[in-house]
Amino acid sequence: MKQVASYTHTAMGLHWLLAFGVLEQFCLGWWMRSLPDKTGEQAWWFNLHKSFGLTIFMLALVLLVWRLRHPPPPLLETMPLWQRWSAKACHNGMYLCVMVMPISGYMGSSFTRFPIRYFGMPLPNFWGWESPELKALCSLLHLCTVIVFMVLVAIHIGAALMHLFVNRDRVFQRMWNWRRPV
Ligand code: HEM
Ligand code: HEM
Repeated sequence: MKQVASYTHTAMGLHWLLAFGVLEQFCLGWWMRSLPDKTGEQAWWFNLHKSFGLTIFMLALVLLVWRLRHPPPPLLETMPLWQRWSAKACHNGMYLCVMVMPISGYMGSSFTRFPIRYFGMPLPNFWGWESPELKALCSLLHLCTVIVFMVLVAIHIGAALMHLFVNRDRVFQRMWNWRRPV
Protein backbone atom coordinates (compact mmCIF):
# COMPACT_ATOMS: atom_id res chain seq x y z
CA MET A 1 0.00 0.00 0.00
CA LYS A 2 1.17 3.55 -0.77
CA GLN A 3 3.22 5.19 2.03
CA VAL A 4 1.59 8.32 3.49
CA ALA A 5 3.53 11.02 5.41
CA SER A 6 2.41 10.76 9.02
CA TYR A 7 2.53 12.93 12.14
CA THR A 8 5.62 12.66 14.35
CA HIS A 9 5.67 10.72 17.62
CA THR A 10 5.47 14.01 19.56
CA ALA A 11 2.42 15.18 17.60
CA MET A 12 0.70 11.81 18.05
CA GLY A 13 1.51 11.62 21.76
CA LEU A 14 0.24 15.15 22.43
CA HIS A 15 -2.87 14.58 20.27
CA TRP A 16 -3.96 11.40 22.06
CA LEU A 17 -3.22 12.82 25.52
CA LEU A 18 -5.29 15.90 24.69
CA ALA A 19 -8.09 13.81 23.14
CA PHE A 20 -8.27 11.61 26.25
CA GLY A 21 -8.23 14.65 28.56
CA VAL A 22 -10.93 16.52 26.65
CA LEU A 23 -13.27 13.50 26.43
CA GLU A 24 -12.77 12.90 30.17
CA GLN A 25 -13.66 16.58 30.88
CA PHE A 26 -16.83 16.34 28.74
CA CYS A 27 -18.01 13.37 30.83
CA LEU A 28 -16.90 14.70 34.22
CA GLY A 29 -18.30 18.19 33.48
CA TRP A 30 -21.79 16.93 32.57
CA TRP A 31 -21.87 14.34 35.33
CA MET A 32 -20.87 16.75 38.13
CA ARG A 33 -23.81 19.01 37.22
CA SER A 34 -26.12 16.37 38.70
CA LEU A 35 -24.42 16.44 42.14
CA PRO A 36 -26.29 18.05 45.08
CA ASP A 37 -25.55 21.80 45.16
CA LYS A 38 -23.20 23.38 47.74
CA THR A 39 -22.01 20.09 49.28
CA GLY A 40 -18.48 18.90 50.05
CA GLU A 41 -18.90 16.16 47.47
CA GLN A 42 -19.74 18.69 44.75
CA ALA A 43 -16.80 20.92 45.74
CA TRP A 44 -14.42 17.92 45.57
CA TRP A 45 -15.48 16.95 42.03
CA PHE A 46 -15.55 20.58 40.88
CA ASN A 47 -11.97 21.00 42.14
CA LEU A 48 -10.88 17.86 40.31
CA HIS A 49 -12.55 19.13 37.10
CA LYS A 50 -10.76 22.48 37.49
CA SER A 51 -7.38 20.81 38.11
CA PHE A 52 -7.73 18.54 35.08
CA GLY A 53 -8.96 21.51 33.02
CA LEU A 54 -5.93 23.64 33.93
CA THR A 55 -3.63 20.69 33.12
CA ILE A 56 -5.30 20.42 29.70
CA PHE A 57 -4.76 24.15 29.22
CA MET A 58 -1.00 23.75 29.80
CA LEU A 59 -0.91 20.70 27.53
CA ALA A 60 -2.77 22.58 24.77
CA LEU A 61 -0.32 25.51 25.10
CA VAL A 62 2.62 23.11 24.67
CA LEU A 63 0.91 21.52 21.68
CA LEU A 64 0.13 24.88 20.06
CA VAL A 65 3.66 26.25 20.51
CA TRP A 66 5.11 22.98 19.23
CA ARG A 67 2.63 22.93 16.32
CA LEU A 68 3.61 26.47 15.24
CA ARG A 69 7.20 25.29 14.84
CA HIS A 70 6.32 21.91 13.26
CA PRO A 71 3.75 22.16 10.45
CA PRO A 72 1.61 19.01 10.04
CA PRO A 73 2.03 16.71 7.02
CA PRO A 74 0.01 18.09 4.07
CA LEU A 75 -3.52 16.71 3.68
CA LEU A 76 -3.92 14.00 1.03
CA GLU A 77 -4.40 15.45 -2.47
CA THR A 78 -6.82 12.64 -3.24
CA MET A 79 -9.26 14.22 -0.77
CA PRO A 80 -11.81 16.60 -2.37
CA LEU A 81 -11.11 20.29 -1.75
CA TRP A 82 -14.21 20.71 0.47
CA GLN A 83 -12.97 17.91 2.75
CA ARG A 84 -9.55 19.48 3.10
CA TRP A 85 -11.10 22.86 3.91
CA SER A 86 -13.55 21.41 6.41
CA ALA A 87 -10.82 19.34 8.09
CA LYS A 88 -8.73 22.48 8.55
CA ALA A 89 -11.72 24.50 9.81
CA CYS A 90 -12.64 21.72 12.26
CA HIS A 91 -9.05 21.43 13.57
CA ASN A 92 -8.77 25.22 14.02
CA GLY A 93 -12.18 25.32 15.72
CA MET A 94 -11.09 22.60 18.16
CA TYR A 95 -7.84 24.45 18.94
CA LEU A 96 -9.89 27.59 19.67
CA CYS A 97 -12.36 25.70 21.91
CA VAL A 98 -9.59 23.95 23.86
CA MET A 99 -8.26 27.41 24.80
CA VAL A 100 -11.62 29.11 25.50
CA MET A 101 -12.84 26.25 27.75
CA PRO A 102 -10.17 26.51 30.49
CA ILE A 103 -9.99 30.32 30.26
CA SER A 104 -13.76 30.73 30.67
CA GLY A 105 -13.76 28.09 33.46
CA TYR A 106 -10.92 29.80 35.31
CA MET A 107 -12.42 33.28 34.89
CA GLY A 108 -15.87 32.09 36.04
CA SER A 109 -14.36 30.50 39.15
CA SER A 110 -12.33 33.62 39.92
CA PHE A 111 -15.58 35.63 40.16
CA THR A 112 -16.66 33.57 43.21
CA ARG A 113 -15.39 33.75 46.78
CA PHE A 114 -13.98 30.21 46.57
CA PRO A 115 -10.22 29.94 45.85
CA ILE A 116 -9.26 27.90 42.77
CA ARG A 117 -7.23 24.90 43.87
CA TYR A 118 -4.83 23.02 41.61
CA PHE A 119 -4.81 19.48 43.02
CA GLY A 120 -5.27 20.96 46.50
CA MET A 121 -2.89 23.92 46.10
CA PRO A 122 -4.71 27.32 46.24
CA LEU A 123 -3.88 29.48 43.20
CA PRO A 124 -3.55 33.27 43.36
CA ASN A 125 -6.65 35.08 42.16
CA PHE A 126 -5.24 37.31 39.41
CA TRP A 127 -8.20 39.53 38.55
CA GLY A 128 -11.41 38.11 40.01
CA TRP A 129 -13.73 39.42 42.72
CA GLU A 130 -17.09 38.19 43.91
CA SER A 131 -19.60 38.94 41.16
CA PRO A 132 -22.56 36.61 40.48
CA GLU A 133 -23.30 38.42 37.17
CA LEU A 134 -19.78 37.95 35.77
CA LYS A 135 -19.70 34.37 37.06
CA ALA A 136 -22.98 33.67 35.22
CA LEU A 137 -21.61 35.25 32.03
CA CYS A 138 -18.45 33.11 32.12
CA SER A 139 -20.52 29.99 32.89
CA LEU A 140 -22.67 30.75 29.84
CA LEU A 141 -19.55 31.08 27.68
CA HIS A 142 -18.20 27.78 29.15
CA LEU A 143 -21.49 26.04 28.35
CA CYS A 144 -21.95 27.47 24.81
CA THR A 145 -18.31 26.70 23.93
CA VAL A 146 -18.56 23.13 25.16
CA ILE A 147 -21.64 22.55 22.98
CA VAL A 148 -19.78 23.82 19.88
CA PHE A 149 -16.71 21.81 20.95
CA MET A 150 -18.73 18.59 21.28
CA VAL A 151 -20.25 19.06 17.82
CA LEU A 152 -16.77 19.62 16.31
CA VAL A 153 -15.34 16.58 18.12
CA ALA A 154 -18.28 14.43 16.93
CA ILE A 155 -17.69 15.54 13.32
CA HIS A 156 -13.93 14.96 13.77
CA ILE A 157 -14.34 11.44 15.16
CA GLY A 158 -16.93 10.63 12.48
CA ALA A 159 -14.53 11.79 9.75
CA ALA A 160 -11.60 9.86 11.27
CA LEU A 161 -13.67 6.66 11.37
CA MET A 162 -14.92 7.26 7.82
CA HIS A 163 -11.29 7.46 6.62
CA LEU A 164 -10.44 4.31 8.57
CA PHE A 165 -13.36 2.06 7.60
CA VAL A 166 -14.97 3.53 4.45
CA ASN A 167 -12.31 5.38 2.43
CA ARG A 168 -9.40 3.25 3.72
CA ASP A 169 -7.03 5.99 2.53
CA ARG A 170 -4.63 5.82 5.52
CA VAL A 171 -5.55 9.28 6.85
CA PHE A 172 -6.28 7.65 10.22
CA GLN A 173 -2.87 5.95 10.20
CA ARG A 174 -1.18 9.36 9.93
CA MET A 175 -2.18 9.83 13.57
CA TRP A 176 -1.69 6.18 14.54
CA ASN A 177 1.46 5.14 12.71
CA TRP A 178 3.55 4.55 15.87
CA ARG A 179 6.04 2.19 14.27
CA ARG A 180 7.05 4.24 11.28
CA PRO A 181 6.30 7.98 11.55
CA VAL A 182 7.99 9.93 8.74
C1 HEM B 1 -11.60 15.62 22.04
C2 HEM B 1 -10.87 14.97 21.34
C3 HEM B 1 -10.00 15.39 20.15
C4 HEM B 1 -9.45 16.60 19.81
C5 HEM B 1 -9.56 17.92 20.57
C6 HEM B 1 -8.72 16.39 18.56
C7 HEM B 1 -8.03 17.37 17.88
C8 HEM B 1 -7.33 17.19 16.70
C9 HEM B 1 -6.62 18.21 15.97
C10 HEM B 1 -6.57 19.69 16.39
C11 HEM B 1 -6.04 17.63 14.90
C12 HEM B 1 -5.20 18.34 13.86
C13 HEM B 1 -3.74 18.22 14.19
C14 HEM B 1 -2.96 19.22 13.41
O1 HEM B 1 -2.81 19.04 12.20
O2 HEM B 1 -2.49 20.18 14.03
C15 HEM B 1 -6.37 16.22 14.92
C16 HEM B 1 -5.97 15.29 13.99
C17 HEM B 1 -6.43 14.00 13.96
N1 HEM B 1 -7.27 13.39 14.88
FE1 HEM B 1 -8.04 14.22 16.52
N2 HEM B 1 -8.85 15.08 18.18
C18 HEM B 1 -9.63 14.45 19.13
C19 HEM B 1 -10.00 13.13 19.15
C20 HEM B 1 -9.75 12.23 18.14
C21 HEM B 1 -10.25 10.88 18.10
C22 HEM B 1 -11.11 10.22 19.22
C23 HEM B 1 -9.81 10.34 16.92
C24 HEM B 1 -10.06 8.96 16.36
C25 HEM B 1 -11.21 8.34 16.38
C26 HEM B 1 -8.98 11.33 16.26
C27 HEM B 1 -8.31 11.15 15.07
C28 HEM B 1 -7.52 12.09 14.45
C29 HEM B 1 -6.78 11.85 13.23
C30 HEM B 1 -6.79 10.55 12.43
C31 HEM B 1 -6.11 13.03 12.91
C32 HEM B 1 -5.18 13.30 11.70
C33 HEM B 1 -5.99 13.83 10.55
C34 HEM B 1 -5.09 14.13 9.38
O3 HEM B 1 -4.33 13.27 9.00
O4 HEM B 1 -5.14 15.24 8.89
N3 HEM B 1 -8.99 12.49 17.02
N4 HEM B 1 -7.17 15.98 16.04
C1 HEM C 1 -10.72 21.66 28.28
C2 HEM C 1 -11.13 22.02 29.46
C3 HEM C 1 -12.53 21.92 29.97
C4 HEM C 1 -13.62 21.25 29.48
C5 HEM C 1 -13.73 20.41 28.19
C6 HEM C 1 -14.72 21.50 30.39
C7 HEM C 1 -16.00 20.98 30.24
C8 HEM C 1 -17.07 21.24 31.08
C9 HEM C 1 -18.41 20.72 30.92
C10 HEM C 1 -18.86 19.76 29.82
C11 HEM C 1 -19.17 21.22 31.93
C12 HEM C 1 -20.67 20.96 32.16
C13 HEM C 1 -21.48 21.95 31.30
C14 HEM C 1 -21.50 23.34 31.91
O1 HEM C 1 -22.13 23.51 32.95
O2 HEM C 1 -20.87 24.25 31.33
C15 HEM C 1 -18.33 22.06 32.76
C16 HEM C 1 -18.73 22.75 33.88
C17 HEM C 1 -17.89 23.49 34.69
N1 HEM C 1 -16.56 23.74 34.49
FE1 HEM C 1 -15.43 23.03 32.95
N2 HEM C 1 -14.29 22.31 31.42
C18 HEM C 1 -12.96 22.57 31.22
C19 HEM C 1 -12.13 23.34 32.03
C20 HEM C 1 -12.52 23.98 33.18
C21 HEM C 1 -11.65 24.77 34.04
C22 HEM C 1 -10.15 25.01 33.81
C23 HEM C 1 -12.41 25.25 35.06
C24 HEM C 1 -12.03 26.13 36.22
C25 HEM C 1 -10.81 26.45 36.60
C26 HEM C 1 -13.77 24.75 34.85
C27 HEM C 1 -14.83 25.00 35.70
C28 HEM C 1 -16.10 24.52 35.53
C29 HEM C 1 -17.20 24.77 36.46
C30 HEM C 1 -17.11 25.59 37.75
C31 HEM C 1 -18.32 24.12 35.94
C32 HEM C 1 -19.74 24.03 36.58
C33 HEM C 1 -20.69 24.90 35.85
C34 HEM C 1 -20.35 26.35 36.05
O3 HEM C 1 -20.31 26.82 37.19
O4 HEM C 1 -20.07 27.00 35.05
N3 HEM C 1 -13.79 23.98 33.70
N4 HEM C 1 -17.05 22.07 32.21
